[in-house]
Amino acid sequence: MGDSAGGAVRRYAVVGAGHRAQMYVDSILADHGDVAQIVAWCEPNPVRADYFDGLLQAAGLPAVPRYLPADLEVMIADERVDTVIVTSPDDTHAEMATRAMRAGADVVIEKPLTTDLAGSRRFIEALEDTGRSLVLTFNYRYAARNSALKEVISSGEIGEVTSVHFEWLLDTMHGADYFRRWHRDRERSGGLLVHNSSHHFDLVNWWLDDFPSRVFASGGLRFYGDVNAKARGLGRRPERGTTTPPSNDPFALDLRDDPRLKALYLDAEEHDGYLRDRDVFSPGITIEDNMSVLVDYTRGASLTYSLNTHSPWEGYRVGINGTEGRVELEVVERGALLPRADGRRDLDASKTGHEDAPGELRPRGERILVQRHWEASREVAIHRTDGAHGGGDAQMLADVFRGPAPDSLGRPANYKDGLRSVVVGIAATSSLRIGLPVRIADLGLDLT
Ligand SMILES: NC(=O)c1ccc[n+]([C@@H]2O[C@H](COP(=O)([O-])OP(=O)(O)OC[C@H]3O[C@@H](n4cnc5c(N)ncnc54)[C@H](O)[C@@H]3O)[C@@H](O)[C@H]2O)c1
Repeated sequence: MGDSAGGAVRRYAVVGAGHRAQMYVDSILADHGDVAQIVAWCEPNPVRADYFDGLLQAAGLPAVPRYLPADLEVMIADERVDTVIVTSPDDTHAEMATRAMRAGADVVIEKPLTTDLAGSRRFIEALEDTGRSLVLTFNYRYAARNSALKEVISSGEIGEVTSVHFEWLLDTMHGADYFRRWHRDRERSGGLLVHNSSHHFDLVNWWLDDFPSRVFASGGLRFYGDVNAKARGLGRRPERGTTTPPSNDPFALDLRDDPRLKALYLDAEEHDGYLRDRDVFSPGITIEDNMSVLVDYTRGASLTYSLNTHSPWEGYRVGINGTEGRVELEVVERGALLPRADGRRDLDASKTGHEDAPGELRPRGERILVQRHWEASREVAIHRTDGAHGGGDAQMLADVFRGPAPDSLGRPANYKDGLRSVVVGIAATSSLRIGLPVRIADLGLDLT
């Protein structure tokens, strides 16, 4: 346990070998094998563990031992694990990460840190008791456009920030996906204000270098789910997207269309009944699909935020007002989801162009405009690199596996950042329930 023998190559175990885990595994195999090594899987589903062993074997490495979640401590001891990478579902984060720390491992963990106050307290206690290190991988900070916006604010060009307006749009491909599997259950994901918005709340906390003091939220399930489908006159629907004959419904996800989804989920479902492709208009959804939040910050700024999960295009808009001027960021990640000849959606609409499609296709792109009082606006250069999440993932993974590079923007995040972002989602969810604002101080967590 603890530091790896010889010191140079750290021994990693993945807790939760599903979709997200692959980014870490691929990164170690491709770029960081000289400093990092996968030594075990902690994963309840044997087919998904097989899939991940296949990745190692394709890279010329041997398969590694696999352990059930109940045997996490045994795994850490027997495999001399230095660090666990926690990519299991959100409701398991607090338990798996704190058990790992108490068993002597450091933690790299996906957002959201946890889903509720009890989980937050569990993290605080385990970190205090063990002194282990925890890295929270807030990859959105690393996207060049988000870093460029941080630079503008930090430079003082718009003065002291007084308010932020932030609108995030998830389209009917990405947004719909949260209504197909465990995210649709508030008990498992905390709802999207925790699961998804923790990215966005972290960005605002980081851009402003501040943290929240009061939260008020409003929202509901207004598009997905059986009640909305019935109200809009949608007829009876299959319970899942993988049907025979194949469906031409644009909301249906057919797992056979994507070899990776088939291998990770369809071929694995007999072991745990995990359905990856449930109909987004089926019963049992307990989360919201339209959310609006008002957040007060300790230094006096306020945030108006909204998340929509059934937009025809995907992207986001931020406007930040300051005492000296204003800065705006607009990002179009996918301009449209256009039907293919067979009636199903086209996953690559904004890449392929669809030049012959009627209407104007919103161009994919990103733009930052800063405008000081009494001046014309100027466009800020965004030094984008290729790759996932606006090119940010590669630098983030280098920071994770090689240690954080010196960074004037302070992008590497720790558990306090995780807490400061997830607490907004937790407070907002509570506000939705009680219909009143929630003061962060009343939650009893130290965010300083
Ligand atoms: N930062 C990002 O952009 C981003 C993107 C996707 C997912 N994520 C995060 O990654 C995490 C995983 O999401 P996913 O899409 O990969 O989910 P997934 O369902 O594809 O994978 C989760 C895996 O964990 C396993 N599992 C379930 N309970 C477990 C437990 N107690 N211990 C160990 N393994 C367990 C499941 O069998 C599954 O293989 C989530 O917390 C999610 O928020 C982050």
